[in-house]
Amino acid sequence: RLTSVIIPAAGQGSRMNAPVNKQYLKIKQKPVLAYTLDAFEQCPLIDEIILVINQDEFEICRREVLKPDRYAKVKLVAGGRTRQESVYNGLMAVAPQTAIVMTHDGARPMIQQAVIEKSIHETSRYGATVVGVPAKNTIKIIDDQGFVESTPDRNYLVEIQTPQTFEYTLLKKAHQQAIEMGIAGTDDAFLVERLGYPVKIVSGDYSNIKITTPEDLIIAEAIIRQLEKKHQ
Ligand code: CTP
Ligand code: MG
Repeated sequence: RLTSVIIPAAGQGSRMNAPVNKQYLKIKQKPVLAYTLDAFEQCPLIDEIILVINQDEFEICRREVLKPDRYAKVKLVAGGRTRQESVYNGLMAVAPQTAIVMTHDGARPMIQQAVIEKSIHETSRYGATVVGVPAKNTIKIIDDQGFVESTPDRNYLVEIQTPQTFEYTLLKKAHQQAIEMGIAGTDDAFLVERLGYPVKIVSGDYSNIKITTPEDLIIAEAIIRQLEKKHQ
């Protein structure tokens, strides 16, 4: 019974406006994707890392990130047109003995060991978990005209991140059904929720940001310096 993580890293990074895919940009001389991979390579609860990347980025990935033999757990898989397709390609490539599968964005390099471990433990209990943090801002539901429709109670609003962790059979079923019915979800949990399966929230860290636009690199560098100080 194995635990695998699928790391979708096959996007275009269009909002970053950089000449290379954002995952190969460096923070303190190290590629974003290398931080992400290090967290899972070092986690004793993770048996296998399925890294999903663009077909034409295998070379840059091997050269800049994987180096020869830097990661023993990594298996490379080609990505799809959407994140959902990339995750699905990953799901088809996990080891046959996989019982629990986690998905984690390649663009979230600040993931902490404690959150990975908690996600896996809680998933053995609940079958489906997602990491989230309490919403800091007031969120409003609006209509097509740009008028406020309602204001949900902030105590019930959580901003969802990754990892998202599931029993393998459950996530596979959720993705397969989404394909059959032509459903596109922005995260994996949505596809599982559709099946009526309860998804438990695992509380995470505000520092687990997704590198999306240029200022995120500045924030990430500051967080990484802070974490390094804490772990010294
Ligand atoms: N991703 C993927 N395959 C895709 C699209 C996205 O594996 N076809 C991955 C990205 O590489 C990223 C994660 O899913 O690690 C979250 O997506 P996002 O932050 O939106 O990254 P991009 O799609 O690359 O960025 P953008 O939307 O700005 O183009
Ligand atoms: Mg995207």
